[in-house]
Amino acid sequence: MAATRGEFSSRFGFIMAAAGSAVGLGNIWGFPTQAASNGGGAFLLVYLVLAFCLAYPALMAELIIGRHAHSNAVQALQLISRGPISKFIGGATGIAGLIVASFILSFYAIVSGWMMAFCINAALTFLDMGESAAWLVEFSLTRNLIFMCLFMLMTIGIISQGVQGGIERWSGRLMPMLIIMLVILVMYVLTLEGAMEGLKVYLLPDFGRVMSPSLIIAALGSAFFSLSLGVGTMLIYGSYLKDEENLPLVGGYVTLVDIGIAVMAGFLIIPAMYVAQHNGIQIFNEAGALISEDTLIFTVLPNLFNTMGTTGLLVSFAFFFLMTIAAVTSSISMLEVPVAYTIENHGAERQKAVWIIGGVITAISATIIFNFEMLFGLVIELTTRYSQPLLALLLCVFVGWIWNREGLLQELKKGNKDVESTFFWKIWPWYVRLVCPLIIGVIFVNSLWG
Ligand code: PHE
Repeated sequence: MAATRGEFSSRFGFIMAAAGSAVGLGNIWGFPTQAASNGGGAFLLVYLVLAFCLAYPALMAELIIGRHAHSNAVQALQLISRGPISKFIGGATGIAGLIVASFILSFYAIVSGWMMAFCINAALTFLDMGESAAWLVEFSLTRNLIFMCLFMLMTIGIISQGVQGGIERWSGRLMPMLIIMLVILVMYVLTLEGAMEGLKVYLLPDFGRVMSPSLIIAALGSAFFSLSLGVGTMLIYGSYLKDEENLPLVGGYVTLVDIGIAVMAGFLIIPAMYVAQHNGIQIFNEAGALISEDTLIFTVLPNLFNTMGTTGLLVSFAFFFLMTIAAVTSSISMLEVPVAYTIENHGAERQKAVWIIGGVITAISATIIFNFEMLFGLVIELTTRYSQPLLALLLCVFVGWIWNREGLLQELKKGNKDVESTFFWKIWPWYVRLVCPLIIGVIFVNSLWG
């Protein structure tokens, strides 16, 4: 079986692909918007704590299960199960994960479509085709539908090429460019009038808000969404990883890159909001809440680019282009989850599986577009805020309680013979067994009551 499965050809390739999955709209659209509407600094602080203390250990749980089983979540969880009950729960968790991954993709494709439209808008404006350009950045049913479909086609096209040719090649090339671009934009925005006010909001936490249950649950969802957890994505990527790789280390790199980019995006978006406000654009309503959260960055960023004159067009083009790419490297990882399952468990052919599943997700996405007000926010909330952390909790339970400690150790030893004497091994197994499930559980109960 191993011979017929795809595999990442190098550590760099894996890190780029896994970081490519992690880094996406979650970092540059999700995190900064959530931070802006939940008190800036307070949100940043809670996010950082949760990302390192809960999301990283949970990521490790997924990578280890995947690498051990070298198969999709459903099979992998059944493999480490010990009796019929845990086997059933394992299979069900895997299936739930692939359903959630598909729903995430269905809203993700809509927002990614906006990124594409804004990218083309910059190009057309440059070419003096103002009228068509304007249509691209106006919120309309047709535009949303067309660009969602285009984005889905791109995702389907790449995934139909498989692991090395598709996923690895694309992620490795484009991720580094995105990082450089972000750094340059952050440096620029900080020179503008109004930016310092935003910086203060972002960096000075209001400690009174840090314990707010709604803030904590939002930060938890944001961290798990950003690291692509709970739905089997990281598990499947782990399954394509070679046995010699040192898992805690590569997992650590991925986490650092992901969180680093989210935090950096905050340095761009939040100051940019205040720059926009300084330029007369209304960002907050009378009550002090953010106006149109979901589309916030599509108001704030173009305003920023406008301050740059003609160069702004080029920057706008490059930024939205790279965002589209960041979104594709994430969307392919979502589509790979149901696809790998269909291929491995039902013997489907890759091409066929990709097109059928991609088609179904496109249909769900279109349904969301037709009922945007009712469904868009709801799907995001149900999938990212609730399902992802809960599924990740189940995965931690599998690693902590169902799989035996010896099995875990052997798996880790494949990539690091001395792992037994490391800090990681002394802490982590207990951590995923007790701390992660407990804290995620408490946050949930608290948010339901709060
Ligand atoms: N982590 C991705 C992002 O930040 C989103 C994602 C979620 C990807 C779940 C795969 C699975 O944009």
